[in-house]
Amino acid sequence: MIARQIADAVNQDRLLESIDTLATFGARGDGGVDRPALGERDIEARRFLIDRARALGCSVHVDACANLFFRREGGAALAPVMTGSHIDTQPTGGKLDGCYGVLAGFEVLAALNDANARTRRPLEVAIWTNEEGTRFSPGAMGSSAFVEPSRMARYADVRDSERITLSAALDHHRRAFPGLPQRAQHEAAHAFVELHIEQGPQLEDAGVPLAVVNGIQGVRWYAFHVQGTAAHAGTTPMPLRRDAMTLAIALRQELDAIAHELGRADTRVTFGRWSIEPNSINTIPSAVSFTIDFRHPDASVLAAFDEHAHAIAQRHGARIEALFTHAPVAFDASVLACIDEACRALDARTLHLTSGAFHDAMYLATHCPSGMIFVPSIDGISHNPAEATDAGHLVLGARALAHCLTTLCND
Ligand code: GLV
Ligand code: MN
Ligand code: MN
Repeated sequence: MIARQIADAVNQDRLLESIDTLATFGARGDGGVDRPALGERDIEARRFLIDRARALGCSVHVDACANLFFRREGGAALAPVMTGSHIDTQPTGGKLDGCYGVLAGFEVLAALNDANARTRRPLEVAIWTNEEGTRFSPGAMGSSAFVEPSRMARYADVRDSERITLSAALDHHRRAFPGLPQRAQHEAAHAFVELHIEQGPQLEDAGVPLAVVNGIQGVRWYAFHVQGTAAHAGTTPMPLRRDAMTLAIALRQELDAIAHELGRADTRVTFGRWSIEPNSINTIPSAVSFTIDFRHPDASVLAAFDEHAHAIAQRHGARIEALFTHAPVAFDASVLACIDEACRALDARTLHLTSGAFHDAMYLATHCPSGMIFVPSIDGISHNPAEATDAGHLVLGARALAHCLTTLCND
């Protein structure tokens, strides 16, 4: 009953205005957003959200990785229900990736206020630092450090492209917000629900407005390093060459074929970053490095690919470097049931699907019962200034979030 009332208090104009306003911090000329984690534009965006949260009567806390927590108190001294996402963007980002989840969380806080509702548990909206991994690698630093604080020691010395360490960027953030009370990482939470754009075509193709996200596919990142010998492009006969690029391309073909053979239709394999030495038009390449992003929902397929990748590297005398790995995540059945119930109560058709992208909820799922809701992405486009979602879908997603969070807060 009360959950439906809060869903109905979600205000379309206020939600859409907040999305447009946040997008002014780091706005690109082409309508997109470029807001690297902990840069000046991110700090100004955070200042704007801190002011908004205080105006809503929320307390604001920060932790050791500059994650921000906006808290609306509940009636009982219980662990909070959490929601939120990230506000850093890709260099060619849009207005919605991450921001939508944070701002829909703010809209739920405002809707609870408008309805004068008192929940049993506190509700917290979090901004997780550096989810995109564009400025500091790996991504999802804030959420992964929140659930496993020992990671901070490893992350502190990570440098951005200008050689600034994460720890210096965190100092800068502390100086920007000197009065913010600190809170410990790894604090207990009753549940976490993240609302996000799908960033793919499935909902739109099915003509369905909401997805209940069952989990997140697993991922393995590697770098392959291949050696050759630099030599003159015009004088070196073909049989005498040791061309690192020729070998790298053969490796790429072999890895691509095995990825498809193992993972079939569910395989997602990307050879996204290449570096070549000496990178000269008339010198045979002496060294090539390339990355692999391999994703699949099945852990045994990920493990089989890992074995093949190492064997292929060994067979060809290449060096393989494992950069990042995360197992497939299954979200909590009771949180998914709560999302399902919210969508039913709002008469919204749903699809159950597995997320292709990773999200902060991937780490929160190891900390507390977690789940995600997706809304459609127009033409499946994301990480692009053209990223967009129909206004009606944005509002429906926020209403489903409001329903689900209110139910969980009164658990
Ligand atoms: C991040 O969003 C990723 O899935 O790579
Ligand atoms: Mn995101
Ligand atoms: Mn993203």
